[in-house]
Amino acid sequence: MYSEKVMDHFQNPRNVGEIENASGVGTVGNAKCGDIMRIYLDIDENNIINDCKFKTFGCGAAVATSSMATELVKGKSINEALEITNKAVMEALDGLPPIKVHCSLLAEEAIHAALWDYAEKNDIKIEGLTKPKSDIGETVEEENY
Ligand code: FES
Repeated sequence: MYSEKVMDHFQNPRNVGEIENASGVGTVGNAKCGDIMRIYLDIDENNIINDCKFKTFGCGAAVATSSMATELVKGKSINEALEITNKAVMEALDGLPPIKVHCSLLAEEAIHAALWDYAEKNDIKIEGLTKPKSDIGETVEEENY
């Protein structure tokens, strides 16, 4: 049912933890399943994401997608990180079962929320970034459940 990569990132998640004094922190939940994900970003003065950590209180697919998402955003610029969609994260994991696709949205939205927090703290505007939702449950299509 799950690819080897999903199982690997679920059993050995990368970048678990917190970043003290993070440049941006984003927390997103899905009220329908009750899962929550928090992402911490450390962004330098050139707008490069030097470090990224996460905590996920959620299902295995949410843990695996958080883990992969943190790997993908590390070393990227803010604009490059914005382009990392849940589809890109799923592709990097060799796919997810259809019923678990919504779990990958938590990672994408949590990254956006952390970037939003960074922008607010620094009083800047990130082109293409809209205010993230704190609960993605309302936006996920029913058939994904
Ligand atoms: Fe809630 Fe996967 S079931 S994030």
